Amino acid sequence: AHVPALLRTMPKAELHMHIEGSLEPELIFALAQRNGVTLPYASVEALRAAYAFTDLQSFLDIYYAGASVLLQEVDFYDMAMAYLARAAADHVVRTEIFFDPQTHTERGVPMATVIHGLSRACKDAEARWGISAVLILSFLRHLSEEAAFETLEAALPYREHFVGIGLDSSERGNPPEKFERVFARCKALGLHLVAHAGEEGPPAYVWGALNALQVERIDHGVQSEQDPELMRHLAATRMPLTVCPLSNQKLCVFPDLRDHNLPRLLAAGLNVTVNSDDPAYFGGYVNDNYLQLFAATGMGAVQAYQLARNSLEATFASPAQQAAWV
Ligand code: ADE
Ligand code: ZN
Repeated sequence: AHVPALLRTMPKAELHMHIEGSLEPELIFALAQRNGVTLPYASVEALRAAYAFTDLQSFLDIYYAGASVLLQEVDFYDMAMAYLARAAADHVVRTEIFFDPQTHTERGVPMATVIHGLSRACKDAEARWGISAVLILSFLRHLSEEAAFETLEAALPYREHFVGIGLDSSERGNPPEKFERVFARCKALGLHLVAHAGEEGPPAYVWGALNALQVERIDHGVQSEQDPELMRHLAATRMPLTVCPLSNQKLCVFPDLRDHNLPRLLAAGLNVTVNSDDPAYFGGYVNDNYLQLFAATGMGAVQAYQLARNSLEATFASPAQQAAWV
């Protein structure tokens, strides 16, 4: 019983969560009512019943539909505050939050509305709960390189409100190389770089994220296990992998958590971390991910400390700020 208590209370960082994926069905309905949006679901229960996914795309279709209720700055603020309260309760001392501006700007929501709502929540949460929270702007990879460049231009007036950029959405058929030039531009601007790779896609996409995009962390990366040379490279460079166990289970990457490869990745010397991805859709926040993964795989206190330390060391916080946690 002491390992679950350790998992719950140990200080940790969350490095892979999409704020739009924290929208609980109850909040989706409340925001729909507030904004006069009609949903194609009769009730909270009917919406939650639709959360039966077979792969990444089957999830993304429902996730983008849920985000359609976000219209006003206060909607983004309320969504982020609800997540940050949960994260603080889970002893998250630092969170680096993805947001998908194109999901909103394509519906006519101004970039300023999105960023100001989220950024104000990060500041208020820090003041209220002491949690350090920053934003990472994520490009949608099913859209074009040109759309990513336009999104970057639209966001640059708010440059001080985000620390880095990421790449998410439909992985298969959208290799990292498609965004090589926009990532190079972001690097020149001094932004931190991360990308989803090897969630459903092949090891070649992880190599592409490392070599073509020059990322500092790989989001997911679990398919790296298929390539021994890549495994050696990731271990030798201590490249952080932000792994999301409940996401992988619900999207049928590892349908049974007992088969999840995180214990093997950790044993092979990879710098893995545990994260929630889209907690409202996948059945749990970050502590639920630790608790269910440890219950299923039998890992213990040694792995718990290692995972927490990995998460704190893989943040984009300044060394001075990190010194407060490590
Ligand atoms: N957007 C939100 N969650 C995602 C995931 N797990 N993979 C790719 N894009 C996402
Ligand atoms: Zn993700």
